[in-house]
Amino acid sequence: MSKYRLGIIGCGWIAPFHVQALNRLADRVEVVWTADPDLERAESIATSLDTSAAVEVLADYRAGLDRVDAVSILAPHHLHHPITLDALRADCHVLLEKPFALTLDEADEMIAEAEKREKTLMIALPHRYRLSTQGFKRAVDSGDYGRLFMLDAFMDEDQRNYVTGGWFVKKATLGGGVFFSASAHMLDVMLWIAGEVGTVSMVGTHGGLPMEGEDTAISIIKFKNGVVGTTRHTWFSPNPRIWYTVRAFCERAVITLEVNPLGNLALEGLYCPWVSRVSVAEAGSDQETLVHESDEGLDLTEEVRHFFDCLDSGARPQTDGRVARELMKVVLDAYREAEIKGAN
Ligand SMILES: NC(=O)c1ccc[n+]([C@@H]2O[C@H](COP(=O)([O-])OP(=O)(O)OC[C@H]3O[C@@H](n4cnc5c(N)ncnc54)[C@H](O)[C@@H]3O)[C@@H](O)[C@H]2O)c1
Repeated sequence: MSKYRLGIIGCGWIAPFHVQALNRLADRVEVVWTADPDLERAESIATSLDTSAAVEVLADYRAGLDRVDAVSILAPHHLHHPITLDALRADCHVLLEKPFALTLDEADEMIAEAEKREKTLMIALPHRYRLSTQGFKRAVDSGDYGRLFMLDAFMDEDQRNYVTGGWFVKKATLGGGVFFSASAHMLDVMLWIAGEVGTVSMVGTHGGLPMEGEDTAISIIKFKNGVVGTTRHTWFSPNPRIWYTVRAFCERAVITLEVNPLGNLALEGLYCPWVSRVSVAEAGSDQETLVHESDEGLDLTEEVRHFFDCLDSGARPQTDGRVARELMKVVLDAYREAEIKGAN
């Protein structure tokens, strides 16, 4: 197995989660530099890497692209497209934080550039790589509980300490509201389980965060296989109890995936403790069977490992540009319809 040279672009809130994964995968990767126009942040992320080698700290990632095989792009959404193109054109493989881009045209250009250069482009949609999500999908797919006919997902967050200004509050830089930025986590799980979307619509409102886009959104989906789904999501919960719950209603059981931070995720970040559970409530029983229980939280190790596995094998990532584009299309279709109807 080769050891890849990597640059980290963007050293904000999510960066310590990537560093934790990279530190666990130190036999596969050497982080050569960290880059952020905010040099203090870049310095802080560089010093949190478990390495005896000197890690360069850059204000401009472009100065380091010729010295790495791959980059992790953890930057504001409006920069995903230009930074990814710069990296691909410098012949770097790219692991890009969600969401893919702001428009489908941007996404198509990024996919085409990766294909032309024969570079791996993976979008970090973390839930497919989590053991609890995989356990949930396994239970639904097993057929043990009959045919799936409805999915319901709920995300209950208080982002008063996260959405405080800067790029989070503007539609032009975030790409939309909570539905664009974060409901996609639940939607990705739902698309992974139920497949292609036939129709989708959404409504949104402003609970009270100082942002241009909606901070609260509900969507309704009909999948091509007949399954129906809903997402409900707020970033302005006065009393958040859970990160997200997804319920799968099958003919003979309700299967529930719960992923709950036990502290304040926005403030505690990497140090926030978690509990993740998958349970099955069968028809006629007042007991729930626990299929999975762990302290698994926003651990990105398996996701980042998958990226390096794909570099080794040349395989397409599970969450490649095509998968991430499909998800983006669902979100943008819902927004378009909501705009026509004045529903957001
Ligand atoms: N997987 C998840 O659950 C999850 C959670 C939070 C954020 N994210 C994603 O991670 C990405 C970053 O979000 P965040 O919360 O860390 O935001 P953040 O604002 O905390 O961090 C972004 C960083 O990028 C830096 N930056 C700005 N311009 C740059 C440039 N030209 N080059 C390099 N760095 C630049 C900023 O200075 C900042 O430090 C987003 O795509 C977001 O959606 C994912």
